[in-house]
Amino acid sequence: MPSLEMRNITKTFFGKSANQNVNFTVGQSQIHALLGENGAGKTTLMNILYGIYQADGGEILLDNEAVLISSPKVAISHHIGMVHQHFTLVPTLTVSENITLGLKSPGYPFVHRRSLDEKIRSLSQKYGLEVDPTALVSSLSVGQQQRVEIIKLLYREAKLLILDEPTAVLTPQEVQSFFTVLKRLRSEGHSVIIITHHIEEVLAITDCVTILRNGINAGEVVTSRTSKEELSMLMIGRKLQREQRQPVLCSQDRTGLVVTDVALKDGRLGPISLSIAPGKIFGIAGVDGNGQKELAELILGIRKSQGGSITLDDVALDALGIHKRKNLGIGYISDDRLSDSLVLDMDLKENMLLKLQGNNRMKRYGLLDRKAIQACTEQAVKEYQIKTSSLSCPVRLLSGGNQQKLILAREMEGSPRLVVACQPTRGLDIGASESVHKVLLDLRAGGCSVLLISADLEEILELSDDIAVMHGGLLMDVIPNRDVDLTYVGLLMAGTRPGGMQ
Ligand SMILES: Nc1ncnc2c1ncn2[C@@H]1O[C@H](COP(=O)(O)OP(=O)(O)O)[C@@H](O)[C@H]1O
Ligand SMILES: [Mg+2]
Repeated sequence: MPSLEMRNITKTFFGKSANQNVNFTVGQSQIHALLGENGAGKTTLMNILYGIYQADGGEILLDNEAVLISSPKVAISHHIGMVHQHFTLVPTLTVSENITLGLKSPGYPFVHRRSLDEKIRSLSQKYGLEVDPTALVSSLSVGQQQRVEIIKLLYREAKLLILDEPTAVLTPQEVQSFFTVLKRLRSEGHSVIIITHHIEEVLAITDCVTILRNGINAGEVVTSRTSKEELSMLMIGRKLQREQRQPVLCSQDRTGLVVTDVALKDGRLGPISLSIAPGKIFGIAGVDGNGQKELAELILGIRKSQGGSITLDDVALDALGIHKRKNLGIGYISDDRLSDSLVLDMDLKENMLLKLQGNNRMKRYGLLDRKAIQACTEQAVKEYQIKTSSLSCPVRLLSGGNQQKLILAREMEGSPRLVVACQPTRGLDIGASESVHKVLLDLRAGGCSVLLISADLEEILELSDDIAVMHGGLLMDVIPNRDVDLTYVGLLMAGTRPGGMQ
């Protein structure tokens, strides 16, 4: 592969700098991490290398010669390939059709399908990227689709592979075999850039690390000579403060949340039973899209259960609508804050009011009390350290972290007895994630039952008292946090119940 050097790369979007004089070098046969928090500018830098964006300034050198990469096609001609976070396969086509899409196949116009499949099969075997060339992409798991994306690049003779947050969609087992693939690629003379914000991953598999922070170079280190502490310092610019879970004395006179045999009519979910005592965090791990959101919506009353029952402190919720349930003291952090939780064109005060409009504190003589709303929002901004230019600013203009803090402030109003938190830190940087974690732990300390649904296993392990894994609409098992065995959790995430029935 050619040696790569990016020099002084600068890129601005609408006056906001995403990359500022960034330098980035990758050597021969390396697994190189591009590490940084969300928004640090990693994807932008790699999109520039792949010819999706043009840099405003700086240059790219391959084997010490400046090149102009004006499109992905040009990048491929230089043996550079990229797999994006969101895959670009066509579900209705087969694996080999996807891989050869847009290319002239051998024997064109008479495609030798069998020899094509053979070529793809041998490529996939060479690198340990097992996949059936004749399978329809729609029938593949996300992990398998990722392999197809990688084979697609190898088929186009990419020597430098850029993978954007590749492990985000994988179970722990799939991550292990993915790491094996990376090593195989390296030993065959390829170089791989993996974009990530997971320090563990960097330490486990890479040779070198380039760290970006706020669009600028924050460091470059050799993996074998660095540590978790150094990398997190470089990435976030300060030491991480891990929140500690303290044992909470549970109140004996309340039962908390008890869910018994709930299910969705279409069979996509359940039957599911679980209970969360006051002062406990119940974490549900699992690959996204296995019914987690549906379960949350059943508890909130957004969906209706087919049979079963849900009680909160012995009050049956089944016949109650969403609003009545919330009034009983249920807070909800949706995984889709932009469409479920906020009205983007409304300002902070109006968004604060979305759940509280019926609250007597917000009314005077039956009308909305502007002063009370103002005071309540001011208090929220102060307490949750929400960065905003004014309370009348449309929430569209807040960063993701600050939007999430506003939702937390609103949903935590009136000391809820139950909080359902779906992917509460998705897309947030480490600082904002820390404050979300602190809020959840404070709730727990205050005797609230918390249902935490997250695809981030580290988050689940850090916060939960009990851990369940969801797969195919069912809870596979519930394990106390202290007994958790990661291999076991990984198998459950993939849908296997070790030593037992499927
Ligand atoms: N196409 C775009 N238009 C406007 N802003 C963008 C675009 N792409 C990225 N940005 C902004 O550039 C910054 C860096 O983003 P990105 O490169 O995606 O970061 P990372 O991949 O490290 O999370 C962010 O503030 C992001 O909002
Ligand atoms: Mg990115």
